[in-house]
Amino acid sequence: MSAIGLYARKTAGFDERLARTVEVLRQTAADFGPGALQSTSLGVEDMVITDLVARHGLPIALATLDTGKLHAETLALIPRIQQRYGLAVEVFAPVNEQVVHFVRANGDDAMYRSVELRKACCGVRKLEPLARMLQGRTAWITGLRREQSANRAEVPFREDDGQGRVKVNPLAEWSWADVWHYVQANDVPYNPLHDEFMPSIGCAPCTRAIAVGEDFRAGRWWWEDSSKECGLHATHGDSTTESPSQAKSGAPA
Ligand code: ADX
Ligand code: SF4
Repeated sequence: MSAIGLYARKTAGFDERLARTVEVLRQTAADFGPGALQSTSLGVEDMVITDLVARHGLPIALATLDTGKLHAETLALIPRIQQRYGLAVEVFAPVNEQVVHFVRANGDDAMYRSVELRKACCGVRKLEPLARMLQGRTAWITGLRREQSANRAEVPFREDDGQGRVKVNPLAEWSWADVWHYVQANDVPYNPLHDEFMPSIGCAPCTRAIAVGEDFRAGRWWWEDSSKECGLHATHGDSTTESPSQAKSGAPA
């Protein structure tokens, strides 16, 4: 069963929510100009935002963090975005020496051994490249939605990211049904893993399918009893997440 078949549903207020989203995106382009960037995980929410950016001809650049641990199905969306929309996705990868050093010291499966090691892996593979991705930018656009988790229940359209930039969350008030209704109505390309019961997709070793009735983010870092945030969105979860410089200085050997 496809995710569209399972989830797409047009519910009351969708047109108004869509209109507010478009307005948030337009206003972001107007307020921040080339300082605005869409940070795409290539997940379905981000594909909806990219579709809107392209559809409305907004001058907003796209970038993604390739942790080196993404599924092939995720990476395959980069050329599809280029083909479909004529938009380039700039790819930011971790520093190879840091990855090699981390894996040599802690092994390839370090993330399963402790929350500290998992966060150190996210530090090297996500937070350090994120810092480079955001250099020179004043605003970044994400696909965060309030419905995704209790941590995210208060996500606003615009917020201070705590690092001197504005984070823009144009889909803040969308439901999962809204997302898939938009995908269906506009034939948006999406990761086929969403059809395999993976609503939230991150790195391959840290993502599994969810069972009926499980939480939306239950398949992320499923072995942990933590806030299930990696530090990209520290304001909506775990404020103890390591900074990139802490992560760089090394996890316990
Ligand atoms: S995460 O913090 O748990 O990984 P999640 O997968 O829910 O986040 O994605 C939330 C938003 O964070 C995405 O909509 C996107 O804006 C941003 N994001 C997450 N992963 C990446 C990535 N690999 N590259 C760029 N942006 C990302
Ligand atoms: Fe490492 Fe998993 Fe974090 Fe990806 S999500 S950076 S593999 S710990």
